[in-house]
Amino acid sequence: MPSPSSHSDNTIPKLPYLGARLRSLYQWIEAAQQTGAYDEIWDCCCDHGYLGIKILARELCQRVHFVDQIPHLITNLQQRLSYYPTGRYQTLAADASQLRFSDQQRHLIIIAGVGGENSVEILRQILPQHPEQSLDFLFCPATTQFDLREYLHEQRFALLHETMVTEKGRDYEVIGARWNSESSDLPQVSKTGNHWDLTNDVHHRYLTKLIKHYQRRTLGDKASEAQRILDIYQATWNNLTCP
Ligand SMILES: C[S@@+](CC[C@H](N)C(=O)[O-])C[C@H]1O[C@@H](n2cnc3c(N)ncnc32)[C@H](O)[C@@H]1O
Repeated sequence: MPSPSSHSDNTIPKLPYLGARLRSLYQWIEAAQQTGAYDEIWDCCCDHGYLGIKILARELCQRVHFVDQIPHLITNLQQRLSYYPTGRYQTLAADASQLRFSDQQRHLIIIAGVGGENSVEILRQILPQHPEQSLDFLFCPATTQFDLREYLHEQRFALLHETMVTEKGRDYEVIGARWNSESSDLPQVSKTGNHWDLTNDVHHRYLTKLIKHYQRRTLGDKASEAQRILDIYQATWNNLTCP
């Protein structure tokens, strides 16, 4: 992994505009940091780094880590970050699955804007390295949310937060979840979500779309896997309509 950037520049940078999706993540983090929940925040798969930059600029934690596997994105980001004190952030051109987290700090690890399957691949490598340590994650998968949810459920992640956000006509799930939770007060992350309210237009539209999606997939290859997932969503829908 490359070493953290170390140059500085005095020009005050313009804060990036956050769209509704990243704003929703930011607002949850801002609320969590009112009680100083996290020392270190990891903007994994950061791309342009907009979310991490806002967290850094607002001094929401001790250190922000920007991680992306594409080196030139990280080089561009380093130039953008040069105004900020180097001790407040770190940039890494790395695969997020290779990250390891010190047990001396409380970490929030953001994995947003990548598919659910990719998020699971990252987790599969990270979690075995932290068998006892509690780690908090904030997810906003771009696709295949079920794969991520099912994995979180199987790994007994505790649910911290879940909501929906709509940006440019697309609906996204936001899921905050804790690995190795010691609290029995928190519910487990469910395979389809605990927060559905079919009187809410967004929830209704989103679940309808998901069910139609898996119905279509039962006609293609991997039909039995699609049917398995469809049955789970259908049961959720039925519980909501005829509890
Ligand atoms: C669409 S951008 C998401 C940017 C931002 N997180 C967001 O939610 O808007 C996806 C980024 O994830 C990065 N990425 C995908 N898999 C990764 C991995 N395993 N480790 C690090 N970066 C990854 C890609 O290089 C790309 O820049």
